[in-house]
Amino acid sequence: MRHKITIIGAGNVGATLAQRLAERDYADIVLVDIVEGLPQGKALDLLEAGPVVGYDSLITGSNGYAESAGSDVVVVTSGIARKPGMSRDDLVMTNAGIVAGVVRQASAASPDAVIVVVSNPLDVMAQVALAVSGFPRERVVGMAGVLDTARFRAFLALELGASVRDVQAYVLGGHGDTMVPLTHLSTVAGVPVADLIPAERLEQIVQRTRDGGAEIVSLLKTGSAYYAPSAAVAQMVDAILLDTRQVLPCSVHLRGEYGISGVFSGVPARLGAGGLLEVIEVALSEPDQRALGRSADAVREVVELIERSRTQIQADLPPLLAPPPA
Ligand code: NAI
Ligand code: 2OP
Repeated sequence: MRHKITIIGAGNVGATLAQRLAERDYADIVLVDIVEGLPQGKALDLLEAGPVVGYDSLITGSNGYAESAGSDVVVVTSGIARKPGMSRDDLVMTNAGIVAGVVRQASAASPDAVIVVVSNPLDVMAQVALAVSGFPRERVVGMAGVLDTARFRAFLALELGASVRDVQAYVLGGHGDTMVPLTHLSTVAGVPVADLIPAERLEQIVQRTRDGGAEIVSLLKTGSAYYAPSAAVAQMVDAILLDTRQVLPCSVHLRGEYGISGVFSGVPARLGAGGLLEVIEVALSEPDQRALGRSADAVREVVELIERSRTQIQADLPPLLAPPPA
């Protein structure tokens, strides 16, 4: 039987992801959005591309969750972007309500699915999805690290005139200003980047990586990145549905790994059938370990902010910082 993937949010990331996954031809896809006609129109358009591109993926659009029932993977991209006059907290509260609402419905329709969260602020929305779905942590992962790492790899390749295929790197931590690019584990064809790029220049590349999302927003002006983000999600979906067991930087609910407990943060994670198979603990330098801790603290602060007004967001929103089941 073909796999089934539900993508919630038929906007830029959701629709581009649907195209990428349809072209892989290994799953049927359900696009869900709150806007009437939008997911139906984009799904039909994608379906009609099948004969030309050469895929049989069935793509369906819907404003509800009946069609999504029994999905193997649910990707959550629904949400709003920050608008002029809105505070970051407004965005957090609004998106927490949206993510809680869609995850409640999607997890009821697909109780065995793996949820991949994309909506921002990423690590915090993953925490909402975990709490609302009641799924084990293995089945709720967030996408950010693959994107942040891709940006770092692209910038390193540009700097050195190297092939991106030869650049290996890792960006850990939260998806935001506190992300932690691991320069000491970054190599080009096996050679440490620190041996190839002067420290000052490397720091500029690290900073450009941290600002990678904002750089695109400032160019586009009306939205944020979606080609690289959708490519990053597709790689995670491949790992899960094709059981590749690939180690990818993903946002995971940490339970003591890297000295962090109870919040989502980006760490190297092995993905395969059923979602998260294993958190890989690599040796970090002291400064990187401290930076990862600070990054998790920043996520916890925002989760606590939501926690305080939990019942205003949704009357029965479950506690977000509850201890994990024994
Ligand atoms: P977009 O605005 O193009 O699409 C969002 C879609 O969500 C819209 O079509 C909207 O109608 C839909 N939506 C809103 N409320 C909904 C609901 N209750 N049920 C179903 N659909 C609903 O935005 P875009 O560019 O696709 O980004 C989506 C989210 O992903 C944003 O929060 C963005 O910040 C985040 N993002 C995260 C990245 C990451 O690395 N984690 C990378 C890129 C984007
Ligand atoms: C990005 O990094 C907006 O989170 C999104 O492009």
